[in-house]
Amino acid sequence: MRRFYITTPIYYVNDHPHIGHIYTTLVADTIARYRRSRGDQVYFLTGTDEHGQNIERAAQKRGIEPIELADEVVARYHSLWQAYGVSHDDFVRTTEARHHQGVVEMVRRIEAQGDFYTSHHEGWYCSSCEAFYTDKELLPGELCPTHERPVERRSEENVFFRLSKYQDALLEWYDSHADCIQPESRLNEVRQFVASGLRDLSVSRSQLDWGIPFPGREGQTVYVWLDALTNYISALGFGRDDAMDLFDAYWQGDGTRVHLIGKDILRFHAVYWPAFLLSAGLPLPSQVVAHGWWLQDRQKISKSVGNIVRPDELVDTFGIDSLRYYVLRDMVFGQDASFSDEGFIDRYNSDLANDLGNTASRMVTLSRRAFGDCLPPTGSRALAAAAEEHLAAYHEHMESYAFQRALESLWKLLADTNQFLVAHEPWKKIKNPDALGEVADVLWSGLEAVRLVAAALLPFMPRKAPEVLAALGFADGEGQTLEWGGLPTGTPLEALQPIFPRIDKKAYLADAVAPASTADSAKPSVQETAVQDASSGPKTPAADAGAAKEAPAEAASAADATPRIDINQFFETELKVAVIEAAEPVPKSNKLLKLTVEIGEPTKRTVVAGLAKAYAPEDLVGKQVVVVANLKPAKLMGVESNGMVLAASEGGKPVLLHPQVTVPPGTQVR
Ligand code: MSP
Repeated sequence: MRRFYITTPIYYVNDHPHIGHIYTTLVADTIARYRRSRGDQVYFLTGTDEHGQNIERAAQKRGIEPIELADEVVARYHSLWQAYGVSHDDFVRTTEARHHQGVVEMVRRIEAQGDFYTSHHEGWYCSSCEAFYTDKELLPGELCPTHERPVERRSEENVFFRLSKYQDALLEWYDSHADCIQPESRLNEVRQFVASGLRDLSVSRSQLDWGIPFPGREGQTVYVWLDALTNYISALGFGRDDAMDLFDAYWQGDGTRVHLIGKDILRFHAVYWPAFLLSAGLPLPSQVVAHGWWLQDRQKISKSVGNIVRPDELVDTFGIDSLRYYVLRDMVFGQDASFSDEGFIDRYNSDLANDLGNTASRMVTLSRRAFGDCLPPTGSRALAAAAEEHLAAYHEHMESYAFQRALESLWKLLADTNQFLVAHEPWKKIKNPDALGEVADVLWSGLEAVRLVAAALLPFMPRKAPEVLAALGFADGEGQTLEWGGLPTGTPLEALQPIFPRIDKKAYLADAVAPASTADSAKPSVQETAVQDASSGPKTPAADAGAAKEAPAEAASAADATPRIDINQFFETELKVAVIEAAEPVPKSNKLLKLTVEIGEPTKRTVVAGLAKAYAPEDLVGKQVVVVANLKPAKLMGVESNGMVLAASEGGKPVLLHPQVTVPPGTQVR
């Protein structure tokens, strides 16, 4: 049995948990649950980082002791993780005695190697990072490169760690372990940083009381990062001779050790931590996996842009598993993403309420009607090949942390299932006794596909996926196989209550924003967004909306007056489904985005679209859209566009059209 150790960063206690912290932990939880489902022996650690100047200052501001502040925030984390169904095995606090013992042992080992020395130190200090920066690293105006806040000049006597000594060993590690830093772009970034030359690292502070006293170095406190990083092994018993079992099993053994982190703390995990471990003669992590950031531009909160961020309310209203699904489905792992209420609701309605919920409920209802409130009496392998293909892709993507792709693979199976149902139309045949054999085969296969999807969703939605399985007659989510054929035949089926009731998006968003916007009354119309240019294009979105607002009745009759076209004229327009693979602003344009799209052709296409005012580029990556594929190329702001993306225009803003279920790129639209 493979041992798998997964950790989250330990969170600072001077801040209340927000969506960024929640995200890291939810991803780690999904990985832990997935590995358990594959039969691994998993140990999942999270915790809190409680020492340092920031925490000391935050406590001072409130007139309480740092430990009181820490206790308060820790209690919040505990209840949060419980509410979110986080399945961690341990929660470590850096103020615990067991952690203290681990840090003392770490320092002892590094000291024994002769890798510490004392020296005078002067530099730019960011107290938010708890790190020194050089002149070169600062942003203009003497700002911290991470926090963009002013840094302070500091001069002190510190203990230094001989980081430079480990430069070659680190480069050797990166080069000999291709997947030690994920995604690969991060590895290149780290490699470049190390190859450009490492300076020794100051690992103590003389002006800090709230921390672990540096063993053997009077007046010095252990640098918070040396302290914090050691949590990954102190929690396993490192430094306590009587409690080393977990350490031996999960850190010394040949299992896998994964640190999941945000990209902001990559250097600490991919450079400093391995160097400390090398010095201490300890094994290195197997993988450091860095994800991107959730962006929330509170300045731009608006209904039409759809970026109102109310995760707490969303969770209260639609449940935690829906949020788990949304954050894992919508973030292209490793890249930044924007959190929005609107994105959440769209995802929920299309994927959960429609594709999963409706598909399951339609088949359960049909099966009950045709087979006396039971599952079909016989099984078949009609969708087995599709299921095997999509599940193989699911596993492959889960192994490489491409969660959005893993979920897409499951939704491809749902799309195949729907197509299969449409092709066989069991609803038309259930009253015909001669066709009941076929109906049984079709419904059983469809329901088995839904079972497989629900079973594969267990790591993502530990509460809702079992509800889908319960609807198929399983008492709980336990013991599900991801092999074709796990659904029984002929067993009783209960009537299905909606598991994912549809959200009324308009009502929810209207409730979220003061009703100042007049855009509501604008009549929606289909409009092209790969505009030539606002000035030369046929109609601007604003013109469309304005006309509709002022005179809806006239607009209707004007539509009537538009000359009708023959169906063959319509077929001259080649509409295809495309997947957006990359998106970036067109320089000097506040309206245009340059999209790279896959439309089932040997090479990708560039399409320029007027979407910038309504969509952030990172929100578009991975989305399926409809493009006009046989347009003549046109240059827009100097970029050649080979197609046009279709969107509805609501209130003057483009609203992209997406297929209701995921279909292969290049699929014709008609
Ligand atoms: N205490 C250190 C980590 C020490 S690990 C030995 C720390 N703490 S933190 O509370 O500031 O942030 C921890 C992590 O939260 C980040 O690395 C990242 O994983 C996550 N996030 C915080 N804000 C985030 C976003 N806006 N988006 C996504 N994740 C981010 O750093």
